Amino acid sequence: MAVDLLLGLQWGDEGKGKIVDVLTKDYDIIARFQGGPNAGHTLIFDGTKHVLHTIPSGIFHKTAMNVVGNGVVIDPVIFKKELENLDKHKIDYTSKLLISRKAHLILPTHRLLDAASETSKGKAKIGSTLKGIGPTYMDKTGRNGMRVGDLELENWKEKYDALTEKHLKMLQFFDVQVEFNLDELEAEFIRGIDKLRNLQFIDSEEYLNQAIKAKKTILAEGAQGSLLDIDFGTYPFVTSSNTTAAGACTGLGVAPNKIGEVYGIFKAYTTRVGSGPFPTELFDKDGETMASVGHEFGATTGRPRRCGWLDLVALKYAVDVNGVTQLMMMKGDVLSGFESLKICTSYVYQGKEITHFPYNIEPENISVKYTEFKGWKADLTGMTNQEQLPKNLLDYIAFIEQETGVPVTIVSVGPDRKQTITRK
Ligand code: IMP
Repeated sequence: MAVDLLLGLQWGDEGKGKIVDVLTKDYDIIARFQGGPNAGHTLIFDGTKHVLHTIPSGIFHKTAMNVVGNGVVIDPVIFKKELENLDKHKIDYTSKLLISRKAHLILPTHRLLDAASETSKGKAKIGSTLKGIGPTYMDKTGRNGMRVGDLELENWKEKYDALTEKHLKMLQFFDVQVEFNLDELEAEFIRGIDKLRNLQFIDSEEYLNQAIKAKKTILAEGAQGSLLDIDFGTYPFVTSSNTTAAGACTGLGVAPNKIGEVYGIFKAYTTRVGSGPFPTELFDKDGETMASVGHEFGATTGRPRRCGWLDLVALKYAVDVNGVTQLMMMKGDVLSGFESLKICTSYVYQGKEITHFPYNIEPENISVKYTEFKGWKADLTGMTNQEQLPKNLLDYIAFIEQETGVPVTIVSVGPDRKQTITRK
């Protein structure tokens, strides 16, 4: 059986959590493969909103197993809060949540280093979520990191102390003051670890490959989006992991020839949180309307998201880099009421019109060209099948399918599980 992938194709916040939740009934195992508590996956069902940061979005399903893969970075403090939230809702996770021994741990001092690094950058800051993601992946690739499996060793605290000591020295290199109380941070970290120890630590690559052989169905859940990928995103304004399809292979230990469907999730428009270039960004009433109707605030940080028209140049790039086989369009309902809509179909880069995503998309290097579409007035939020969708929306979707060469198989018309239209 193949592993299907579900990935965001823009700058994150596409609505991956909702779609994983919708698809979970078809899968035995849901596995997260990269990122950490910088993610915020929102699920709404039975009138309740749940936000998950590190835990896979299949956790609310009765039978699905949930795996936090080796490519993920875990902050035990935030993980504990997520588990307590599940406790509050009486979700039994102990037998359904498995953690890779090879996943790296975010230490309190990683968070301090993240804050010091961002502050020292001044205007050039990335706009990080400040969850310690960058410093933790730096320790991973620098071969200094601490992993979940280390917690099973008797000398884990020595490892922790040595790494913390090193981080405190590194903090002194920054020309900025970061206030902290190390004892409090450490006590909180240890409480987090104690909670984490209630879960099963596993060799997740072995578990998943055995599951593939046993013909179990597996869905790999991506975090962030393709344009935040460390290699293919808008570097340096990116996160520190591979958010694209290849990241699922390295982040789970699953071979490329075991990948099946690649579901690419995108919003009917574009948003971005944090700094960095955004060619189709709007600074007018249309952008304000998208932000307010779409409730565009970060699920992790609460920061307002920047909004703009759909960028098909960037979307086609993401489709290629990931090998997307099915597209899923989110938040079409937010565009109801616009007289006309625009899709960016090419850039003008160094005086030439281009249709591929170039090295440099800063505003001084690029301007955008749009194709215009007629809007629709109808409220989509109560619609349940594609026959009800307005013709102008279907034309909008048909254009995207024609340009990308990939079918749009799901149209989401609201945040609830039920507000999901499947297309044949
Ligand atoms: P970091 O991964 O927290 O260091 O943040 C790096 C960049 O990625 C910043 O611009 C963040 O706003 C952005 N980012 C990180 N995680 C997410 C996410 O889950 N959704 C949207 N943007 C994200």
